[in-house]
Amino acid sequence: MSHTVIEEVKARQVLDSRGNPTVEAEIFLSDGTIGRATVPSGASTGKFEAVELRDKNDDFYFGKGVLYAVRNIEEKICPQIIGKSPFAQRTIDNEMIKLDGTPNKSNLGANAILAVSLAVAKSAANSLNLPLYKYLGGINAYVLPVPMMNILNGGVHADNNIDFQEFMIYPVGAKNIKDAVRFGSEIFHTLKGILKMRDLSTGLGDEGGFAPELSGVEEALELIVASINRSGHDTDEVKICLDVAASEFYIDGAYHLKGENKTLKSEEFAEYLTYLANKYPIVSIEDGMAEEDYYGWEILTRHLDGKCKLVGDDLFVTNINRLQEGIKRRIANSILIKLNQIGTLSETLDTINFAKIHGYDAIVSHRSGETEDTFIADLAVGTNCGRIKTGSLARSERVAKYNRLVKIEDELGEGGMIYSGWT
Ligand code: PGA
Ligand code: ZN
Repeated sequence: MSHTVIEEVKARQVLDSRGNPTVEAEIFLSDGTIGRATVPSGASTGKFEAVELRDKNDDFYFGKGVLYAVRNIEEKICPQIIGKSPFAQRTIDNEMIKLDGTPNKSNLGANAILAVSLAVAKSAANSLNLPLYKYLGGINAYVLPVPMMNILNGGVHADNNIDFQEFMIYPVGAKNIKDAVRFGSEIFHTLKGILKMRDLSTGLGDEGGFAPELSGVEEALELIVASINRSGHDTDEVKICLDVAASEFYIDGAYHLKGENKTLKSEEFAEYLTYLANKYPIVSIEDGMAEEDYYGWEILTRHLDGKCKLVGDDLFVTNINRLQEGIKRRIANSILIKLNQIGTLSETLDTINFAKIHGYDAIVSHRSGETEDTFIADLAVGTNCGRIKTGSLARSERVAKYNRLVKIEDELGEGGMIYSGWT
């Protein structure tokens, strides 16, 4: 192990689940081991995220190519890390941050840097013959996350008229991952049956949830409650989580709910969310307020802290400085963790730790543009963070993460347990 070094780094452009280009990196070690990673891509990206480098050549994938990022890996990053130990994750991540030299990784591209960062970790785990979660978390990696499963899509992830982006089911009564996945699948199929019966579309949105035209947010919530009950479960064992993705419809200081035909000020929108949380079994609200509306976040936190998880996604963008600011202002109480918002594995682990120390829950998350890479399933277990958000119970790029968790659960056997402190 101690003599194993990185011998070669390769990169290529591949496709994500929306059919857009993304970056894959491969690390070749001197002991013959390979580590490979592919990065995801968001659609409702936060303003403060690290920069995803796109070619902007209109004649090539309509500007979405990532050939510059690929070239940055092969020509700039590769010479810097060849000969280094794959176990020096933090050193390698720091080197790449330094080489990039910008606060938001806009020079080399967060997509280039992250692909290498993750591939290095995988090569190291493979070299030691350890499953990735064990490499990341050692003997203390044992908590399977409760999944927040997105079964109804709106916002920019669907073409329908629902303002909120994600409606998730959260099987808090599941005894293990296999049960959680089964609950999810049964409710998903029940919802499909109800939509069919009502002649509503059963086409899927970007994250694999249904995307029907409905009268609005409350009809979506009613449908989900009906699906939970009709599938043989109940709202004691299966709760609801929302990703409002409010930054998407916060314009000129107000929340423009087109589907609801309402324009609301921060106070009014916080009231509306509080009303929903009191009427339905909602236990978590992500991005209930816009990324820059600190005032709105303060009101929402005052209303719902203690009752709901208030999750900062666009608000915190997995960035320790933004999280620190939020903690200082006492806004939100949880953070969504997306590797590509910050751009290296080490910084992601730092943010998770920082959240934990300050009593904020961390939820490891996919992006709306995903690949078959299951890194986040191992990351959730490796950090014992207790929750994962990885989409619906359909579409292989989503299901791959659930299938990976089932395998990890089998491997851990009696040494593993699903997170139980979900409140
Ligand atoms: P995105 O959506 O990947 O399109 O940003 C996911 C989310 O907002 O949580
Ligand atoms: Zn979000």
